[in-house]
Amino acid sequence: MRVDILTLFPDSMQAVLGESVIGRGAKKGVIEIHAHQIRDYTENKQMQVDDYPYGGGWGCVMMAQPLKSCLDAVKAQAGDRRSRVIYMSPQGRRFNQEEARRLVRDYDHLVLVCGHYEGIDERFIEECVDEEISIGDFVLTGGELAAMVVTDAVCRMVPGVLSDEACYTGESHWDGLLEYPQYTRPDVWEGRAVPEVLRSGDHAKVERWRRKKQLERTMDKRPDMFHELKLTDKTDLELLEEIRAERSRMRLEEPVTYEKATVADLPAIMDQAVKARSRMKKQKINFGKKHDEETFKKDIADGSCYVVRYGKAFAGMFSVVEADKPFCETTITDGKWHSTGKHVVLRRLAVENRYAGTGMADIVMGFVERIAREKGAKAIRVPVHKKNVPMKKLLAKHNYRYRGNIDLALTDDGLDLRQAFEKVLEQK
Ligand SMILES: C[S@@+](CC[C@H](N)C(=O)[O-])C[C@H]1O[C@@H](n2cnc3c(N)ncnc32)[C@H](O)[C@@H]1O
Repeated sequence: MRVDILTLFPDSMQAVLGESVIGRGAKKGVIEIHAHQIRDYTENKQMQVDDYPYGGGWGCVMMAQPLKSCLDAVKAQAGDRRSRVIYMSPQGRRFNQEEARRLVRDYDHLVLVCGHYEGIDERFIEECVDEEISIGDFVLTGGELAAMVVTDAVCRMVPGVLSDEACYTGESHWDGLLEYPQYTRPDVWEGRAVPEVLRSGDHAKVERWRRKKQLERTMDKRPDMFHELKLTDKTDLELLEEIRAERSRMRLEEPVTYEKATVADLPAIMDQAVKARSRMKKQKINFGKKHDEETFKKDIADGSCYVVRYGKAFAGMFSVVEADKPFCETTITDGKWHSTGKHVVLRRLAVENRYAGTGMADIVMGFVERIAREKGAKAIRVPVHKKNVPMKKLLAKHNYRYRGNIDLALTDDGLDLRQAFEKVLEQK
């Protein structure tokens, strides 16, 4: 791609376009950018490029002759190419990514004409210009900034300028969407952590998360673009459904907190346990008899039971047990724990049904991790009923890994099938 810019300020343009990605592209020889001084083509002694407008009025108008002579010289230098002469003008077609793609696809030589003052003689536009391009509905002093915008947007898409096509095909506006949010080191900055999924190493999950963010961002930041989208891809449609479902659910507006349970919480805990048991029964999950009042009293007494509050309301519970009970160490039949040393066991996690889909369970998982770290644990282990799919999904989302089946004969809490999940805590 060759770009010739006709301007009254070639030095400042060459300086900007000689930098960074575009400058390196030119050095590699995959693009050529030349800025030409229009004044050099005047035919009058004063090297005058503009004159008063016919009919009166403010300012001056650039004369057609120097522009035409400059254009002829440029065309002769460029030789036989697919050329397009473009006048940078606030009256032109609005420039965007699609227009940039059209230019890079259809032409290998662009001549960008920069006006100044009140603009240029209309007869030059009629005689020599193929199209007019505007970079927005506002008026600049001259066409130079607009020409640099077009040159940059077009040239970065010329093969060889960027290291890979994916550098620009994944960016905002390529397929009618905005780009997903980007993060770099450190993991936590000013108390804000990089989303866990981006550190998971699971490429499929990262891709899905990024696509979802693209859809969400476009929806929120550019509803006009979002309305123009014609999504047909199955994953996009699923993600859209997911976003809409999430947004139609209750939003958490009160603070969510946790504290150690006391006997005063027992009625709420038991009520929650009964509801959880009946939910599980519907899924044909047998929890045994251990989730009775005695169990919770014991958990409260040894300080392992926590309640979750939404404002002041009871919203759920969980136990974080500092334990080396037999099953925690030895009872996986067909796998093994990956951690050694101190660990905690997460048990009896339940969130009130009315908070389903609000993100409450994710917040609680964060509490569990915080407590585990405060206790100096290196890992969190979780026994989960094989059929408890929601819990397994929640664990997967928070990067807990399946370690094998648990031999129930050795467990102290009863019946039915359990699986072992574990999260090894990275040291912060
Ligand atoms: C002050 S402007 C002239 C505006 C002109 N009198 C009008 O009202 O349409 C001077 C030059 O800046 C350039 N220019 C100004 N706004 C622009 C825009 N939005 N996009 C592209 N070029 C622009 C054009 O080359 C134009 O000739």
